[in-house]
Amino acid sequence: MDLLHLPKHISICEVGPRDGLQNEKVSLSLEQKTELIERSIAAGVKIIEVGSFVSPKAIPSMADTDEVCRRIHKVPGVEYRSLIFNLKGLQRAEAAGLTKAKLTVSASRGHCLANMNKTPEEAVQSFSACVAYAKEHNLTLSGAISTAFGCSIDGIVPFEQVISVAKALYDLGLRELSLSDTTGMAHPVQVYQYCLDIQKMFPDVTWNLHFHNTRGLGLANVLAGMMAGITRFDACFAGLGGCPFAPGASGNIATEDLINMCNEIGVTTGIDIDQYIKIGYDVEKYIGGTRSSSILRAGKCSDIIKNKK
Ligand code: COA
Ligand code: ZN
Repeated sequence: MDLLHLPKHISICEVGPRDGLQNEKVSLSLEQKTELIERSIAAGVKIIEVGSFVSPKAIPSMADTDEVCRRIHKVPGVEYRSLIFNLKGLQRAEAAGLTKAKLTVSASRGHCLANMNKTPEEAVQSFSACVAYAKEHNLTLSGAISTAFGCSIDGIVPFEQVISVAKALYDLGLRELSLSDTTGMAHPVQVYQYCLDIQKMFPDVTWNLHFHNTRGLGLANVLAGMMAGITRFDACFAGLGGCPFAPGASGNIATEDLINMCNEIGVTTGIDIDQYIKIGYDVEKYIGGTRSSSILRAGKCSDIIKNKK
């Protein structure tokens, strides 16, 4: 019985090596980073954000993404992508052997200026150099719209502003776009409505959703997205994450929490939860603390039920 009109399967993109680690005080070693990426893939992840190619002054913990990419043993059929803001980033990604990159721009002016020193309009305009380069060099670009549901600098971000940025990215030729709740301000009714509207407005775009669990609504927002027909979601091992240029930002939804919810409600992810729980504990060991994962604290319901038998 499909009361909620849920999809049968969703794709989870693991953003831990990028969103997760970019906001941590402790920098992981190259060995730890490559190990986490390879273990995520071994657990069943098919899309992974391995890092970002940005200014090392802005995000020191991502300075070694080039080397991480060279070291990982790439598995055919897995999409290894990176986050970029400019041509220099795209060229670094290409040199490191990646064929896919995500251009990111904020819907809000305040966050865009803080994060990339450009207004949203200037940012999108500057992306045309990346689009031209990608075409020439056979690279694929996707787009992400940060602060799409609200901004801790500007406050409310009108939906029209989000649409205008989406249209600008669409006009550049991007057909895979993400709505990102950078500051954890989205709520399920908003997500449901936005997702219905954007799919109607851009029917040939593949949409992805990216939630932070800042106010505890992360998985509720995923469910709302699923009910509106979205099947691609970002998540981060152990619930790390956050943008250092967004005041008050905190962890992404934890990948193991999302897998667990999907397992409970009959939506497949192709990812093994037990392997992921082990990854989560190791991530906590490496960073030396806990973040926003519930399953790492409470365990799975099925374990409790099994123990009671
Ligand atoms: N890789 C490495 N270095 C880069 C770079 C890239 N992709 N892009 C720019 N730089 C370097 C430049 O070489 C320059 O170095 P210098 O000071 O030694 O000469 C410096 O960064 C400034 O470059 P400029 O083009 O003037 O950019 P800017 O100062 O306007 O900053 C960004 C723009 C986007 C490069 C910078 O704000 C940034 O990297 N932000 C990261 C944001 C982020 O990752 N947020 C978290 C994810 S949402
Ligand atoms: Zn994020």
